Amino acid sequence: MRAIFAESINPENPLAGLVVGERPDPVEPEGWTTVRVTSSSLNHHDLWSLRGVGLPTDRLPMILGCDAVGIAEDGSRVLVHSVVPDPADPRGYSLLSERHQGTLADRLAIPAGNLVVLPESISDADAAVLPTAWLTAYSMLARGRVKHSDAVLVQGAGGGVATAAVILAHALGKRVYATSRDEAKRERIAALGATALAPGAKLPERVGVVIETVGAATFEHSMKCAAPGGRIVVSGATSGHLASVDLRRIFALQLEILGSSMGTQLELDELVQLVADRGVQPVIDSTFDFADARSAFERLATGDIFGKIVIRH
Ligand SMILES: NC(=O)c1ccc[n+]([C@@H]2O[C@H](COP(=O)([O-])OP(=O)(O)OC[C@H]3O[C@@H](n4cnc5c(N)ncnc54)[C@H](OP(=O)(O)O)[C@@H]3O)[C@@H](O)[C@H]2O)c1
Repeated sequence: MRAIFAESINPENPLAGLVVGERPDPVEPEGWTTVRVTSSSLNHHDLWSLRGVGLPTDRLPMILGCDAVGIAEDGSRVLVHSVVPDPADPRGYSLLSERHQGTLADRLAIPAGNLVVLPESISDADAAVLPTAWLTAYSMLARGRVKHSDAVLVQGAGGGVATAAVILAHALGKRVYATSRDEAKRERIAALGATALAPGAKLPERVGVVIETVGAATFEHSMKCAAPGGRIVVSGATSGHLASVDLRRIFALQLEILGSSMGTQLELDELVQLVADRGVQPVIDSTFDFADARSAFERLATGDIFGKIVIRH
């Protein structure tokens, strides 16, 4: 079958190990099923994998991808929850493409319990962005107890997780502030209902929840923008994972720094329902045909994207 996979690891030049080619059909372990994938989307996770983060060389070749929409064996249109129970992993789970083959292929083996039936109102392209970036954003807002906050700050607003967090927080009726390094992206984020700011800019108010995926470049600002009792929810560190923290601020303002990864299947169900009920429209940066996946990866690696990159299978 056709597959987009990592053949080798290269920390400096991740695209060097990327192959768009052929891999054997999936073999289903007991209790698993096969989905014929119709759409998927890219995540920064795929670049980390090509750099060898979370993907040791002894697991190569590995089909990349955590997101998939497809047709299940019973003919229903389904979304794949890519968090797979994994007793061998210290987290107790792994994401598709870490230990089990990923979603960027014609067919995907997945535990039968990891499928969510899609409502007709959500298109394949919109659904394809939900299982990783959007689920992460949804879960981060929940973990940050957003319902107890009127205002939210989202750092690095152009990214997949970040645009999702802006749209979801806005849909939940919150005042949303968002930073981006790029002026054109700031204009686009403002059109989604956020007050867009340059990185490090002073906010008109302190916020109850900060959505942090950028890491080192923005973390100090995130700490400064949190209101007393505020929650800084961290799910990524694109710009670097070592940040210094003024501990006095944490205890004086009784701040919480919360780690977050992906989300539960129940949260994915809730997210699908929310998107369907409120007609929430994900931001799609661009769509590429499967055969042109290398161009899609090149675009992701530039960091110039706004929203999600979808792959049409
Ligand atoms: N833990 C989890 O479950 C989980 C799930 C999904 C993602 N993640 C992580 O979260 C991060 C974001 O993922 P994604 O898929 O949303 O990535 P993405 O779509 O590639 O977006 C990354 C965004 O980060 C910002 N950025 C990058 N470098 C920066 C820098 N040096 N300074 C300031 N901003 C910078 C950019 O925003 P601007 O250009 O607007 O400034 C960029 O759009 C990644 O590190 C990913 O691994 C974790």
